[in-house]
Amino acid sequence: NAMFSWQRTAFHFQPERNWMNDPDGPLYHKGWYHLFYQYNPDSAVWGNITWGHAVSTDLIHWLYLPIAMVPDSWFDWNGVWTGSATILPDGQIVMLYTGDTDNYVQVQNLAYPANLSDPLLLDWVKYSGNPVLVPPTGIAPKDFRDPTTAWLGPDGKWRLTIGSKVNTTGISLVYTTTNFTDYELLDTVLHAVPGTGMWECVDFYPVSINGTKGLDTSAGGPGVKHVLKASLDNTKLDYYALGTYFAENDTWVPDDPEQDVGIGLRYDYGRYYASKTFYDPVKERRILWGWINETDTENDDLAKGWASVQTIPRTVLYDNNTGTNILQWPVEELESLRLNSTDFDGVVVEPGSVVELDIGSATQLDILAEFEIESLGLEETNEVNGLCGSGATDRSSFGPFGLLVIADETLSELTPIYFRLANSSDGSFETYFCADERRSSKASDVFKQVYGSSVPVLDGETLSMRILVDHSIVESFAQGGRRVITSRLYPTEAIYGAARLFLFNNATGVNVKATLKIWQLNYAFIHPFPLDQMH
Ligand code: FRU
Repeated sequence: NAMFSWQRTAFHFQPERNWMNDPDGPLYHKGWYHLFYQYNPDSAVWGNITWGHAVSTDLIHWLYLPIAMVPDSWFDWNGVWTGSATILPDGQIVMLYTGDTDNYVQVQNLAYPANLSDPLLLDWVKYSGNPVLVPPTGIAPKDFRDPTTAWLGPDGKWRLTIGSKVNTTGISLVYTTTNFTDYELLDTVLHAVPGTGMWECVDFYPVSINGTKGLDTSAGGPGVKHVLKASLDNTKLDYYALGTYFAENDTWVPDDPEQDVGIGLRYDYGRYYASKTFYDPVKERRILWGWINETDTENDDLAKGWASVQTIPRTVLYDNNTGTNILQWPVEELESLRLNSTDFDGVVVEPGSVVELDIGSATQLDILAEFEIESLGLEETNEVNGLCGSGATDRSSFGPFGLLVIADETLSELTPIYFRLANSSDGSFETYFCADERRSSKASDVFKQVYGSSVPVLDGETLSMRILVDHSIVESFAQGGRRVITSRLYPTEAIYGAARLFLFNNATGVNVKATLKIWQLNYAFIHPFPLDQMH
């Protein structure tokens, strides 16, 4: 379907056609990274959910494989829903997923590869004793889904957690098991946060306080914090918090109760949901996947024949400079797509001006940008009404300034990715990182929002961003990945060779000096695995 084909991405993962949602069971096995995903093989809207499957040797160049699991049993008749992989010490792979039963009850099922020696893991066997878990007493049949990767406790038992709710309190249940077929529910939950509603796609993993490496899911002890993430069904937003896991009673306590799960930090302040991490034993890193959902209408999705994209996988590390957040950064393999680059050194952007960055077509880019501000000595005003203001046109002394991406030459379509600073009463600055989609498309039936968050900037640090541009997707990282904003855009003019890149400064009281390095990025040429040629 050629319609809307300019929205197809060049290096983000998306199926050839039809609907995709959550990433499922990511894992590494015998030279291949595996990605499974919620997939409707029949239509570009949600339904008939199967597990799509793809493999890659570098997390960037993907090859589509045949569907791994379809709804074919009473225990998953209405959908093979989200799940996670656990790699046992002997190399066995345990896949736990939610089945929506013939009666629309959410149960947990066990599956495993038919042939572990197959690097492609083409065939999956569903355990004959499924389901292995049904909703426990006090949990409603539709509030019990998305089991995590399991971790090993000091008593030699595996644990896993499953999101749910009781009234409006979001909770995460904990089960122990030794064989993945029989489980015991603990009396206490891992964690609960009132008012946050149903927790979908819970993720729970350790991060090293002083290290630059990721940790396998069972790691613990001193020098380790744990991230707890929940995808809030009510708002469709992914929230995380840093805290301490107490293995002796399987509870987790947030570092800062005011920044608890569901009320504090988000992985991504843009269009992003149902994320999941896995541990990469090859490069000893933890990698985060997330689903970029659409903001157009279902009719548009049906017309274009596909819906949704996955983010570029991101490494996750604890930020020991702030101690309050994780750092997310595109996996280093993305850099293998870099083609020619252009440097811009100290470009001065005066208040109220726009400067074109002459790089030619601007649809597939990796941008590193640093900004210095020079006060013009004008009277300082602080008229910013919180966060991102009402967008990039809302001017104040110290912002907004940044880049206009997916813009056409006449600026009839553009998306500002920007900083804005506000001086607080104690004389210090608060920095906000924002994306303004309001003018991103001439299409009227797409949801266009101003997204953003405050971002920690420490003494002596320059303001920096990295932006990945891929036709209709923009992933923006501030201050080394302390905050991230993903944008799903629907340009009608700023497409292919017509897309341009600009600097802008809408501050009234400062000059901005920008230093940038910009790479054109190649296609990842994602295509079907040539299975026929192999046999
Ligand atoms: C999250 C989610 C999960 C569920 C799956 C169904 O997007 O609703 O909770 O398992 O999608 O496709």
